[in-house]
Amino acid sequence: MSEEKDIYILAIETSCDETAASVVKNGREVLSNVIFTQIALHTLYGGVVPEIASRKHIEKINQVIEAALREAGMELSEMDAVAVTYGPGLVGALLVGVSAAKAVSFAAGIPLVGVHHIEGHISANYIEHPDLEPPYVCLVVSGGHSHLTVVKGYGEYQVIGQTRDDAAGEAFDKVARAIGLGYPGGPKIDKLAREGNPDAICFPRARLADNAYDFSFSGLKSAVLNYLNGCRMKGEEFCQADVAASFQKAVIEVLVEHSMHAVREYGYDRFAIAGGVASNSSLREAMARACSENGIRFYHPSPIYCTDNAAMIGVAGYYEYCKGVRSGLDLNAVPNLKLGDRTHVCRLEAGNTQI
Ligand code: KG4
Ligand code: ZN
Repeated sequence: MSEEKDIYILAIETSCDETAASVVKNGREVLSNVIFTQIALHTLYGGVVPEIASRKHIEKINQVIEAALREAGMELSEMDAVAVTYGPGLVGALLVGVSAAKAVSFAAGIPLVGVHHIEGHISANYIEHPDLEPPYVCLVVSGGHSHLTVVKGYGEYQVIGQTRDDAAGEAFDKVARAIGLGYPGGPKIDKLAREGNPDAICFPRARLADNAYDFSFSGLKSAVLNYLNGCRMKGEEFCQADVAASFQKAVIEVLVEHSMHAVREYGYDRFAIAGGVASNSSLREAMARACSENGIRFYHPSPIYCTDNAAMIGVAGYYEYCKGVRSGLDLNAVPNLKLGDRTHVCRLEAGNTQI
């Protein structure tokens, strides 16, 4: 019996405000997951400042890569490939990771694999769920994206719904700022909402006539701002916890409704969530309940793998690597990269000597 060789991927992620590197074995086992978060820096400004993010990534990237190898107890020479997020994200931030990955690829003589950030978020589900394999439906809700997608195979996606305006996480961050909670808003609303009454204020739920799976959160955000202005004009105090709980309930109801509709219509019995907002405790409870009522198996990553990290990029990168997908040293950052866009990578043909 021939023994399969283990595949080790060094992964790099710098698309927003986390400088991250990881070593992943055989696509499912995380040997190290190093994250340098810049949150404290950006909190001063109430949100991510792209120029500051890029500068900090440059400062930290080499240390973070070295720490990831050290924690995994491995040398660069033992890596089979380097995977890196090349989009979507902040262009200056992405370029730092892409440049570092190219340097590693060239210096170590190992292949470079460009990874889509959202594909990484979805793939985070494989880390702790060895039984999860495509096909299934996945809801990706992060600071920049809200996608409902059918995962048809590894690296094969059919996006069936997207946000028309604000992403779910963006709505959390904007509402948190409006009620005085500061940045980043998602975890703060999550915590405060536990003390509030979710039925105190009836905020609107947007349902779009032309695509039942699309999302829109800007109307909800405006409704919260109008409510706060109304209170101020009447000289009334508003209850932060009630606003947080009522807003959160409105977001969750729409996410659950659209997701369950998609799972039923497309006929799958497995459903996963991913992205920063997927770490929201009430969303996880509501999805778990809805899945159990509908006889669907529910998957979600641990919170550390929901928010930005490089382990998820290593997992997605592994499946691309195994399919023979390689990026050239001309790989560029693509800030608005679409999910499933394959124009920036090439498939390794037999005899192609590209590293
Ligand atoms: O996936 P992520 O780390 O970065 C992007 O790719 O955008 O997501 C960050 C977003 C932020 O908007 C943050 O407020 C939100 O995820 N978030 C949460 C929670 N934790 C993070 N939203 C709701 N509840 C949470 N517990
Ligand atoms: Zn992300």
